Amino acid sequence: MQKKLTVTTIRKRKGDTPLVMITAYDALFARLFDPVADIILVGDSLNMTFAGRNDTLSATLEQMIYHTNAVCAGAPGTFVICDMPFGTYTAPEQALTNAVRVYRETPADAVKIEGGREKAAIVARLVSEGVAVCGHIGLLPQAVRGEGGYKVKGRDEENALSLIEDARAVEDAGAFCLVVEGVKADVAKRIAEAVSIPVVGIGAGNAVDGQVLVFADMLGLYEPFVPKFVKQYMNGAEAVKAAVEAYRKEVTERTFPAPEHTY
Ligand code: KIV
Repeated sequence: MQKKLTVTTIRKRKGDTPLVMITAYDALFARLFDPVADIILVGDSLNMTFAGRNDTLSATLEQMIYHTNAVCAGAPGTFVICDMPFGTYTAPEQALTNAVRVYRETPADAVKIEGGREKAAIVARLVSEGVAVCGHIGLLPQAVRGEGGYKVKGRDEENALSLIEDARAVEDAGAFCLVVEGVKADVAKRIAEAVSIPVVGIGAGNAVDGQVLVFADMLGLYEPFVPKFVKQYMNGAEAVKAAVEAYRKEVTERTFPAPEHTY
């Protein structure tokens, strides 16, 4: 079994074997991912997949802390990042208070915050107090209402240069890693080349330093919509429905429980 990664060993993966990041929200799935993932992200996407809401914006810090504790319990051998939810890092001191809560109330290894140069002062404040910060630029799910939808970024040169500037600002502020979401692959490649911290992509092509997917997407469990960048490694929804249908049939036909399931 590989040793648990640290911010130092994650930084060293720049340009090396791609980092494997996956989301998890509970100990059940975290235990399954623990032997294979480099990093588990307790993403605020849990507000959509776990809580059934339309976007991530109503996730609370309390919820993130609850789920982070569950994930850490299930995956003691994996580096765990807790997403800071919408509205919890609007100013440096408020962000620090909330990140300190994450560190005090969970064993999370790092926090993630969305935003580029406009969030650099916040990243710097957290890092100055010893908080490990993963940045997140490109398509920002927490900006979905403000932007009127999920918009792929890097479609023109002006935006490409702006994203590269964002990446550099987040790196200069002290982030150890950067998630780049929903960005044209050639631009994501330029971002990865522009910074010396690992860039983990989601919908950003494969010329970056790692990939992250929402587990419910890659296991085919989340049915409301499947983004273009998602590869479903199994049809989880169909497998679960078939299993529950088989259970229903056997219960109604009285073939379950069979003698071997009976005391
Ligand atoms: O919340 C989340 O799961 C994320 C990933 C999409 C990177 O931020």
